[in-house]
Amino acid sequence: MTSPKFNRRLLPLVAALSTPPLCVFIMLVAFGAVDFGPAALGTAATVLLTGLLLLPYGTDLADVAGYARELGRGVETRPPALRTGLVADVLTALGQLRRNWRARTDELTTLVRFHDALFESLPSPLFLLNRQRRIVRANSAARKIFGRELQGRDLAGLLRHPALLEATDRVLKGQAGSDVEFALPGPIDREFRAMLEPFSEAGSDGTVAILSLHDVTALKQMEQMRADFVANASHELRTPLSVLLGFIETLRGPARDDIEAHERFLAIMFEQASRMSRLVADLLNLSRIELNEHTRPDGQTDVATIVRRVADGLELQAGQRDMRIELALPEGLPPVTGREDELEQIFQNLLDNALKYGRAGSDIAISARLTEDLPASLAARARRAIAVAVRDQGEGIAREHLPRLTERFFRVDAARSRQLGGTGLGLAIVKHLVNRHRGQLTIDSILGKGSVFTVYLPIEEA
Ligand SMILES: Nc1ncnc2c1ncn2[C@@H]1O[C@H](COP(=O)(O)OP(=O)(O)OP(=O)(O)O)[C@@H](O)[C@H]1O
Ligand SMILES: [Mg+2]
Repeated sequence: MTSPKFNRRLLPLVAALSTPPLCVFIMLVAFGAVDFGPAALGTAATVLLTGLLLLPYGTDLADVAGYARELGRGVETRPPALRTGLVADVLTALGQLRRNWRARTDELTTLVRFHDALFESLPSPLFLLNRQRRIVRANSAARKIFGRELQGRDLAGLLRHPALLEATDRVLKGQAGSDVEFALPGPIDREFRAMLEPFSEAGSDGTVAILSLHDVTALKQMEQMRADFVANASHELRTPLSVLLGFIETLRGPARDDIEAHERFLAIMFEQASRMSRLVADLLNLSRIELNEHTRPDGQTDVATIVRRVADGLELQAGQRDMRIELALPEGLPPVTGREDELEQIFQNLLDNALKYGRAGSDIAISARLTEDLPASLAARARRAIAVAVRDQGEGIAREHLPRLTERFFRVDAARSRQLGGTGLGLAIVKHLVNRHRGQLTIDSILGKGSVFTVYLPIEEA
């Protein structure tokens, strides 16, 4: 408890309150009702008593003012102990104000922190820009691509794309938001869509616009693949179709009566029509597999039996090229989760390729083994797998072609594959079927020596 101090601000109040009795004393002296001596004494006593009565209020008010000043400076002190009820009411009201203000501040702090976290964690790179095109703030996705020290830098130092900078300047001058697409060169080029949006009011940190970048590389690739697919599919269908039309013309015209030519042409027409039919069947098959890709088959199958059956079926085809299929299938391999017809299709396509692209007279080796040595992306999902490897001794595949091998219609030598009756869909079908079985396809090849296509089918989930 602070001791009561004399407060000079009380003097005017004491004077004001003492004035009426003072006037009474003066009048009493003037009318001779009281002598000057006792009147002076009475006046002095009144002033003193008024002062003494007001002193605790004055001291309390001074303490409350001091307390409020400390709160205003952000210092949390203990509320003062007061002597008077009236000022204590003021202190209670002040306490209430402090609590409300504290709750509101806490709310605002939480909101600001939440917005900060939201801004930081959004996956797209974001930049807050001031009117001078400088970066006020960037989120972690932006720092990951453009480096840590971004604050205060001119956007032009980061992204030199003229169309983007022009659009940014327009938005900073108060025009409506806009989108710009641009490529970011790097080890692998990436394509971005930049979206610029002005703020209706400038932020306290000078922010007037936000720039967000969206990686559209995958989308662009998909668009390109779709366009390529339509172009390839129609090209593949048009080629045999125009051959057919050509021969029909000839048969109706110059070769109308040439019986020998009929036989020859019809054989070619049959081959071309079969090719078209195979292509359509493969395309339908592929889209059906893609549709089912997310549902894993649930039957239990024995891989060795399937591989043996496929190899037996291709024995004749192998003999025609003077090739042999060697099987290394150990007994007692555990069953895998999968569909027999689909697994059969996988090995049929791989073996068909090995026979087509393997050197005539060479051997093809198919082996199956249970392994824990899995490719990295499969190791994250499974502990053990059955690996079936199809090895040929053909011309091999150049390293740069390997990543594209499972794309639809991709062929290393299109003319040659077409001549061999290929549609370029075999490995695409294999990849999607292996995906559906939650497995993985790996391709190793040495030019001039041969290739190994390995299918991993998981046994145990990790
Ligand atoms: N074992 C292999 N050796 C060398 N090249 C291969 C081998 N397997 C596939 N390729 C190359 O990959 C391309 C794509 O193979 P894929 O099986 O998808 O198509 P395809 O064999 O041409 O036609 P399809 O399988 O539809 O009859 C082939 O055209 C060929 O160039
Ligand atoms: Mg093939």
